[in-house]
Amino acid sequence: MAARDCPRSDGSHVVSEPHSRTVVVLAAGEGKRMKSSLPKVLHPLLGRTLVGHVLTAAGPLTAARTLVVVGHGADQVRDHLAAIAPEATAVLQAEQLGTGHAVRIALEAAPEVTGTVVVLNGDVPLLRPETVAELVAAHESEGAAATVLAAEVPDPTGLGRIVRDGAGRLEQIVEQRDATPVQLAVREINAGIYAFDAARLRDVLGKLSTDNDQGEEYLTDVFKMLVSAGEPVGVHLAGDHTETLGCNDRVELAALRRLLRDRVNERWMRAGVSLLDPETTWIDVTVALDRDAVVDQNTQLRGGSVVGSGAVVGPDVTLIDTVVGPGATILRSHAVGAEVGPDASVGPYAYLRPDARLAERSKVGTFVEVKNSELGAGAKVPHLSYVGDATIGARANIGAATIFVNYDGVNKHRTVVGEAAFVGCDTSLIAPVEVGAGAYVAAGSAISNDVPPGALGVTRAPQRNVEGWVARKRPDTASAAAAERAQRGTQGAPAPTSSASEGEAIHGTAASVGGTPGAGDTATE
Ligand code: UD1
Ligand code: CA
Repeated sequence: MAARDCPRSDGSHVVSEPHSRTVVVLAAGEGKRMKSSLPKVLHPLLGRTLVGHVLTAAGPLTAARTLVVVGHGADQVRDHLAAIAPEATAVLQAEQLGTGHAVRIALEAAPEVTGTVVVLNGDVPLLRPETVAELVAAHESEGAAATVLAAEVPDPTGLGRIVRDGAGRLEQIVEQRDATPVQLAVREINAGIYAFDAARLRDVLGKLSTDNDQGEEYLTDVFKMLVSAGEPVGVHLAGDHTETLGCNDRVELAALRRLLRDRVNERWMRAGVSLLDPETTWIDVTVALDRDAVVDQNTQLRGGSVVGSGAVVGPDVTLIDTVVGPGATILRSHAVGAEVGPDASVGPYAYLRPDARLAERSKVGTFVEVKNSELGAGAKVPHLSYVGDATIGARANIGAATIFVNYDGVNKHRTVVGEAAFVGCDTSLIAPVEVGAGAYVAAGSAISNDVPPGALGVTRAPQRNVEGWVARKRPDTASAAAAERAQRGTQGAPAPTSSASEGEAIHGTAASVGGTPGAGDTATE
């Protein structure tokens, strides 16, 4: 860190003049080739916008000021900055007259700025913070007037070329469209990241011409002006040229996304996370994983998601802002804003919505949707259910096709299911309602009155069998023939009887309650 931090007698600090730092991010361009109503710098890339990545790369500079030049989509960019970098100041460049013009406008808006001015193109998102810090350290230690971050690239097409003299010193930076054939052959390019001495930059910015193919004020022209004034300028070469890649269209954006994916995935694998198919695993830069987490193929981990040690996520899982505890399993599912406790199990084919909170060892199985609900430790909702606005006690078992009827068309209401309660299949729990601890609900019930602890709640019409109905009403059908054979006793083995056990559809207590509908009976279908 070159900035000198000087404690004052009153305990506050001032950053000493020579190395006071200001960051200027250029983000006013339209990004025509993106063909988008979204300003280019707001396009997302694995957890941050392009400009969000650039600001993150500048973070360790501990700049006294951060100025972001906005223009195209200025209001959208301003709103985004307010959310992600409230300390940054947006400076409006009403007309995009070039990168030099953009920096000039920024410095005019901040006349007090001295020391080092670090300029970053808003569309170079793969830049590492370490690289920016190295550039600035080299610039400041050499007392240069200007230092540019350069890279050797396989294909320099479209980029500014670093032109050196016979002794290897920087002479000028030439844009592709203004370059001679000899200059076009240069593969050392300008990354669009620079450190400047504020006073000397201000001085030459006022003298920029628009005498080039685009009729713009080029920031890059500052270099040849400083060179001809005899000022010391430097070139800092990036070790990894992929850090300097810009983003001008959606094909380049996709390429950057793949590069960043590989970088993020490599980091997690080296940190002890198993990625079974890194090519199809997309992890936002904002996600955290613990050692021995396993991520299977076709999985996206987004936003503030966290995956605990030994948890297995995937294949075919998307987690957005979802916290997964150690040892949990999530298979072929989608979760947003949910919490999955230690050793809990989710899926295949579950949908966890915001504030679904699953305690340890609980289970949300197949075709189950959970929203704004807590499942206690070891509670199970194994199949085909909707759980909304509910609190489900520890070890409760919710049978297949149970619906928590939370919405009356105007308001949402809560349902409480007590500890170790047992809710039979195909039940509607019509909120607000409570099923007490250890209570049972018979399969096929619609429960709108509370069920006391230990009671059986049942709302079911008694069953009536109309003997011989098929033979009379559906003669000459396969059913009639089968019935006749069965009645003659010629059918094969009898159908197996089912037995309810954990993890299977619960057939409830039909035998014991048939024909005895409860007092609070409600229509079920
Ligand atoms: C620029 C450099 C080029 C370098 C390349 C690296 C110049 C003249 N050229 O070219 O040498 O190789 O970056 O990616 O600087 N912007 C504004 N206001 C403007 C114009 C641009 O804010 O009036 C912003 C853009 O939003 C963008 C950045 O500046 O974030 C760079 O502008 P862009 O038009 O993309 O420059 P390049 O042609 O890529
Ligand atoms: Ca560019």
